[in-house]
Amino acid sequence: MTRLLTTTDIARIVQHHGLASCFQQLTSYLADDYRRWQEFDKSARVANHSAEGVIELMPIADARAYSFKYVNGHPKNHRVGLPTVMAFGVLADVATGTPTLLSELTLSTALRTAATSALAAQHLARTDARTMALIGNGAQSEFQALAFHHLLGIEEVRLYDLDSAATDKLIRHLSAVPGLRVVRCASTAEAVRGADIITTVTADKRNATIVTPDMIEPGMHLNAVGGDCPGKTELHADVLARASVFVEYEPQSRIEGDVQQMPADFPVTELWRVLRGDARGRQQPDEVTVFDSVGFALEDFATLRWLRDQAEALGLGQDLALVPAMADPKDLFAELALAPAATPETAPLPIGEARAAMRAISPEPLATTAAAAQADAMPA
Ligand SMILES: NC(=O)c1ccc[n+]([C@@H]2O[C@H](COP(=O)([O-])OP(=O)(O)OC[C@H]3O[C@@H](n4cnc5c(N)ncnc54)[C@H](O)[C@@H]3O)[C@@H](O)[C@H]2O)c1
Repeated sequence: MTRLLTTTDIARIVQHHGLASCFQQLTSYLADDYRRWQEFDKSARVANHSAEGVIELMPIADARAYSFKYVNGHPKNHRVGLPTVMAFGVLADVATGTPTLLSELTLSTALRTAATSALAAQHLARTDARTMALIGNGAQSEFQALAFHHLLGIEEVRLYDLDSAATDKLIRHLSAVPGLRVVRCASTAEAVRGADIITTVTADKRNATIVTPDMIEPGMHLNAVGGDCPGKTELHADVLARASVFVEYEPQSRIEGDVQQMPADFPVTELWRVLRGDARGRQQPDEVTVFDSVGFALEDFATLRWLRDQAEALGLGQDLALVPAMADPKDLFAELALAPAATPETAPLPIGEARAAMRAISPEPLATTAAAAQADAMPA
């Protein structure tokens, strides 16, 4: 049986533990898997682009488990009452190929993306960072604000979105959070002024320039989440040029990240190297760092592992007959449970009767048809 987890199950997990604990648990699963980087069979995701968006498949495996995520990105979806990003995913057993878990990943992607951003910032932002600008106040934004509040001690978020209703919604959700000051700003420039961290999580299918070089102050960390497709960026190229840039999986980030704007030899450091201690994160207080996030399959693998463990611990989900449970694994046909196919008209004749019928039709030679040849070959 395959275990199915729906959005209700994910909400139950978060209600049970609280968001802060979920972020902590997820970052621990993420860090564990990132530190095992060499054990994974990795590839850049497969993207199918259309005029309005993209649909992507994100596979990855280690020796024991395989996972994939289906995810889309359609920035105009809100016009038809749908989210920009929708996702689901599968965890499977490598030894047999059995799909063990089928889960929603829309809520879970928001949780894992925020946890990944916070995990990266723990190594890349200044330790005294307390203020974050949050540009783009849509579906991902609460998760980003709260992960940075709980895991990095961010005390003030400075918000800006082209859509003031999105900012209203975000303020509604954040205003009751103890120890978090929420400031509405009139522009990106106003929001980022004096911020220690800038998170950009906007959705637009073009090379947008959300952050320009004049907005950058020494010591800032930029968490660039929204630029995650060819032709879809958020940072001006000169912002990248003067920063230390960190990515998830270089072959994918060169295609999809903000670094798609840069020459092929522009230096980037993969996050796993920092998490393993093989490379330095932030080195100077006045250094400008960028986490050029696009979302990598390993993050969904870690998230699905966490969801599987939570489902087991909390008794969540339901069994799904996604694969037939066969008494004889070679007898797949029996699973159709069809009524017996034979009717008086189509049932094969006993051999003696078949021979007589053939003689009546064609007295000789007998073996002109395959049926007659077969009848002749059989003992009478
Ligand atoms: N890196 C990752 O792992 C990852 C994961 C999930 C989503 N994303 C990306 O994050 C982005 C946001 O996702 P979402 O689910 O929050 O989308 P959303 O559509 O719910 O919200 C995006 C918001 O950005 C605002 N926006 C667009 N252009 C803007 C601009 N120039 N200035 C200010 N605000 C602007 C929109 O008004 C909207 O409110 C998407 O591009 C998505 O692909 C990345």
